[in-house]
Amino acid sequence: MKTVPMKIRDGIVLFAGKMSRNLMLEPVVSNTYFLEDGDEMIIFDPSCGKKIAESVESHMQNRCKAGAKWKKAVLIAGHSHIDHANNFYLSDLTGAGETHIYVHEAGFKSGRVSNEPVAFIRNMIEETKKSYNPYLAFSFPYNLLMYPFAALDVFFPDLAVKLFSRIGALPWPGPVDGEVRPEPLIQDDAEVINFGNISINGWRVGKKIILSTPGHSPCSVSLFWPEKKALFVSDADWIGNPVFMSSSIRDCIDSLERIKKLTCAGEVVLFLPAHGQVKEGRERIMEHLEFLISRLKLMRSEVMSAYQSCGKVKDVRRLTKVLVQGSPLFKTLKLINYPRFVLFIHNVVAVCLKEEGVLD
Ligand SMILES: [Fe+2]
Ligand SMILES: [Fe+2]
Repeated sequence: MKTVPMKIRDGIVLFAGKMSRNLMLEPVVSNTYFLEDGDEMIIFDPSCGKKIAESVESHMQNRCKAGAKWKKAVLIAGHSHIDHANNFYLSDLTGAGETHIYVHEAGFKSGRVSNEPVAFIRNMIEETKKSYNPYLAFSFPYNLLMYPFAALDVFFPDLAVKLFSRIGALPWPGPVDGEVRPEPLIQDDAEVINFGNISINGWRVGKKIILSTPGHSPCSVSLFWPEKKALFVSDADWIGNPVFMSSSIRDCIDSLERIKKLTCAGEVVLFLPAHGQVKEGRERIMEHLEFLISRLKLMRSEVMSAYQSCGKVKDVRRLTKVLVQGSPLFKTLKLINYPRFVLFIHNVVAVCLKEEGVLD
C-alpha cells in the first residue's frame, strides 16, 4: 500500500514514515516532506525504501498534471543516517532546470555520502567497540543471537564486524542514486542571518534557510521556512538521543536551545520532525523542547551520579545495568528502545562519559 500524502499547509505535504519494532527485520522509514514555493520545490529527508519514494513520485506526477512547473528542485537530507539519506534519484524526476542535493559536509566520507547500510553499520560497531562490547549489550532473547558474534570477536574481530554488518544491513535498502551528485554544505560557508535580535547561522535556499543543528549526528541540519514559520528538524528531537557514538549531548542541547530561541521569538509555530507527530503552536513546541532539554540534562546527571556511586568505574555495560535497574528515566529508555536496539542506551552512557572526559 502506498503512503498517503498529507497536506499540512499550502506548500507543505507530509509523507509519513514508519517506526520499526525490530531493526533486525525491518528498517525505520523517516517522514518525507514535500515543499512547493512558486517555481521552487524541496524534498526534505527523502527517506528510504521504494514504498515512500513511489508515493512521492506519484505526487510529483499529479502536481505536474495539475500545472506545477519547477525551475529549481532541491533535495536535502536532514542527516546521512540510512533511514533519511536515500532515494536521491527523485531529483531526476522533477523536470526542473536547476537541481541540487544537499547533505552537511560531516555526512560525507571519502567524498561520498555515508548512507550505504553495510558501511554504516560497520562504522557504528567499530565506533562503539572503542567504548564497550556491542555484541554483549543486548538483552534476552537478542543476546542469544549475539553470542556467536561475541565469540567470533575474541579471535577474529574483523570477521565478526564484517558478518554482523552484512546481516544487520539485510533489511535496509541500499542507496538509490540518480544523476545529480550530492553537494556538501560546508560549515565555513554558512552565513549569519538576523531575525530581529536573533542571529542564526545557515545556508540560504531561496527564501528558506538550512540550519546546522548537530547533536543527534554531527551532520544534522534543519530547514527553516520563515514565511510559514515552519521548522523541519529531521532527528534533532529524536527520542532516546544520543543514539550513536557520534552523537553529542552538548550539541543536542545547544541545537535545541537555538530552536527554542526562534520559537520563543514567535518565528516558529510549526515543528516538523522526521519521526512522530507534527507539533503546532508556540506553547506546544516550547513545551516539547523544554522537555527534551531537561531530559538530556537529567540523563547526563544520572550517568555521572552512577559513575561516582560505582567507584568511578569506567565500565559502560555495568553502569548501564545499574542505571536501567535504578533510574525511572533509563527504565523508560530501555522500554522505548526494546526490542529495537538496546545498544542505544549503552551509547547514551558512553557518549556522556566521553563528553565529561571520563572515557577517551
Ligand atoms: Fe538519525
Ligand atoms: Fe531517523
